Amino acid sequence: MSVLDLSPVRSQFPALVLEDAGRPAIFFDGPGGTQVPQCVIDAMSHYLARTNANHGGAFRTSRESDAILKAAHEAMADFLNAASADEIVFGPNMTSLTFALSRAIGRELRAGDEILITRLDHDANRAPWLALTERGVVVKEVDFDPADCTLRLDDLAGQLSSRTRLVAVGYASNAVGTVNPIAEIAELAHHVGAWLWVDAVHYAPHGPIDVQALDCDFLVCSPYKFFGPHSGVLWGRYALLEQLRAYKVRPAGDLPPDKFETGTQCHEAQAGVLAAIEYLAELGEEFGAPFAGRFPGFTGRRLALKQAMAAIQAYERPLFEHFVAGLLAIPGLSFYGIRDFARFDRRTPTAAFRLAGHSPQEVAEHLAQRGVYVWSGNFYALAVTERLGLEATGGVVRAGLAHYNTREEVDYCLACLREMV
Ligand SMILES: Cc1ncc(COP(=O)(O)O)c(C=O)c1O
Repeated sequence: MSVLDLSPVRSQFPALVLEDAGRPAIFFDGPGGTQVPQCVIDAMSHYLARTNANHGGAFRTSRESDAILKAAHEAMADFLNAASADEIVFGPNMTSLTFALSRAIGRELRAGDEILITRLDHDANRAPWLALTERGVVVKEVDFDPADCTLRLDDLAGQLSSRTRLVAVGYASNAVGTVNPIAEIAELAHHVGAWLWVDAVHYAPHGPIDVQALDCDFLVCSPYKFFGPHSGVLWGRYALLEQLRAYKVRPAGDLPPDKFETGTQCHEAQAGVLAAIEYLAELGEEFGAPFAGRFPGFTGRRLALKQAMAAIQAYERPLFEHFVAGLLAIPGLSFYGIRDFARFDRRTPTAAFRLAGHSPQEVAEHLAQRGVYVWSGNFYALAVTERLGLEATGGVVRAGLAHYNTREEVDYCLACLREMV
């Protein structure tokens, strides 16, 4: 029996019955943004209809609104296993949060201080750090192995020095799916006294995150990639958030998270994030019990969330193996990233490929005409397509599975691809 019972799972996502090309649309565009369950839509419209108010008022709607914002911070703290909800900062998206924090960190750095970034990362975890070269900070790039798109830890270790102040690395690549060994990288970074900044945007919908076990210093993610609304979330160690000087207006709070939550936040999005976390916790309660043993010391919603993500991981893996086996059997298909099933714990279910004789855009259009939604190009992971030598010819096709996708959808996508051969 499957780890997840897909029929009650899918029935919660209204988008999954949208018709295109005469059949329900197939959403393999999750790495660009996932669909949301009805409870998220309800929470957002309820917020706007019944609780819509600015922060800190003496009246009922403002108090209720503030309670929702507090609950959203607590929910994200549970999702990431943060030590406290005060370590959770909401923002418009991961990119804006990373720019804001990189500037706050940058103002503490001196000319000659070093930052390590990687070629495997989305530009949102590169450009903000590269911008600090304006202040004389030296930014170095860690390479990846183009054969299987895994990060070269030897290169990372070799480039660390007593001048390294921060290492910025992705938990998983949104282009080719590689999962990086974050705990190991944290140890390397801390050995030279550097902070570790983790971009968990692509990883978050696919596996449990535990910032305390990873021992990173900052971690960013985007709820719209894990069944919530468009928004961004930053976790940082409280002492670091407290010590950094935020770019803020005078009346705003001086303590985390307020000092980094500049201006009025998208309250309805936080209501939606809270609902998305509750959706996942319910999934964990329903399907995740077999995984409880993996999370000693966890209880309540924290345990339910870990179980949910473990169940999602266990559901996605065989589905993705089936997908990759089908892709590799297509004549003229070039596959990028880890393809050895035994190492699939080192990747997400996001496939990057090209089809001989067709541009990635042509493949995406062919699939779109048949109701299969995938992306083509570089997905802002520009350094990846450049390193692979594919940028000038249109990058890759990216088809990413989520826990609401089915084997039938995978088979249909494979059949559509075979038509192009
Ligand atoms: C790995 C990764 N990092 C960062 C981002 C940027 O996130 P946001 O859109 O929240 O700024 C994305 C978006 O696709 C991503 O996939």
